[in-house]
Amino acid sequence: MTGTAAWVLDRCDDLTRYSAREDALERVYLSPEHSAANTVVAAWMREAGLDTETDAAGNLWGRRAAAGPPQRPATPGEPALVLGSHLDTVPDAGRYDGMLGVVLAIAVAHRLRHTVLPFALEVVGFSDEEGTRFGKALLGSCAASGQWDAAWWDQTDADGVTLREAFTRFGLDPGRVGDAARRPQDLVGYLETHIEQGPVLESLDLPLAYVTTIAGARRFVLTVTGEARHAGGTPFARRRDALVAAAHLVTRIEELAVAAGCLATVGDLHVQPGAVNVIPGRAELTLDLRGRTDADRDALWERIVAAGQEIARERRVTFEHTETHRAPSTTCDSRLSAAVASGIAAAVPGLDPALPGTPSDGAASARVPGLWSPAGHDGMAMAAVTGVGMLFVRCRDGISHHPDEHVELADVEVALDACTQAVLALAHQEAR
Ligand code: GLV
Ligand code: MN
Ligand code: MN
Repeated sequence: MTGTAAWVLDRCDDLTRYSAREDALERVYLSPEHSAANTVVAAWMREAGLDTETDAAGNLWGRRAAAGPPQRPATPGEPALVLGSHLDTVPDAGRYDGMLGVVLAIAVAHRLRHTVLPFALEVVGFSDEEGTRFGKALLGSCAASGQWDAAWWDQTDADGVTLREAFTRFGLDPGRVGDAARRPQDLVGYLETHIEQGPVLESLDLPLAYVTTIAGARRFVLTVTGEARHAGGTPFARRRDALVAAAHLVTRIEELAVAAGCLATVGDLHVQPGAVNVIPGRAELTLDLRGRTDADRDALWERIVAAGQEIARERRVTFEHTETHRAPSTTCDSRLSAAVASGIAAAVPGLDPALPGTPSDGAASARVPGLWSPAGHDGMAMAAVTGVGMLFVRCRDGISHHPDEHVELADVEVALDACTQAVLALAHQEAR
């Protein structure tokens, strides 16, 4: 049963038990649920013949040597191909965003447990991709790629717990976070399977694609400050209503993003003082911006700032902004992408593995689709230390960050075949 698509889906179901909420899935960084999920996933990794370890940032790793389990323990210095994704979630999450890539990677390791490979094989369950708890995404993979920033230690969660305190409570030593960093010379590449989180594969009627680039997001807190006053005693001409100004800004942001062909989302809004009979004096909004290129995204941000200043002048409020996250877009590695495309072609009949710009050997067949990912992934951080490739799996209605996330068993079956074949294609290249 281990190593089959049904096993993968059952394990994704099992992981919904490790949640902070009874009625919904929510598993955030350094929480008791994070610890419990690491424990159960480590047991599955061991079933697949991997030695396991939790690193200094709470990421879970499984590893086998090139020659496979009979030669264990793995030779420490042997470079590894890493498969995986993340085990943390957004609030009220679906069960596949992140988890599918970790569990599927374990199933691939299980399938290949008796196969001699020219590199070590590792599976990782990153501890924080979403940034749900501390507002900073990719903490787990930033630690694993040696990009931890000491400025993050004082960031707090909704209860005022600092990242430093959360480390200690989880049993980690903040002073040792650098030990989680992987060195480029120890890695062959990072290969992640993930649900598409968009509707393109469904519209193409195809189960799988490789990823060309991962868009870099920029995130901001926008603050509009007006004046809190009596809701009855203040005529409209005297009002400096922060929420009305913010509402104008939100609709303007959408118009500007549509015109720029980018994505912009105001996902959270807090109003103060927040009473039914008081004009809002302050509104705080979050903004998430993504574009096909960093230049498109950055040009949109400039227009949003100009719009915010104009609305502030018109409505006699102030407009301020703070950047909370910025990631450059990541181009997937051509060698890993070619291996993923060849894996897809082997698993899905009638597709030609050739990437755009390379000679095709199947003139009559359709090319394996290559998609850009507007969603962020751990590969964005891992690209600092190794080449990154991604395999996208169709998800129903493109829905994600929602409990209705769904993948079909048959699509997971071909994803499992494609990922296994991609590993073998890389092994074949490496052995030459
Ligand atoms: C990660 O899920 C993101 O927000 O792109
Ligand atoms: Mn996500
Ligand atoms: Mn994800």
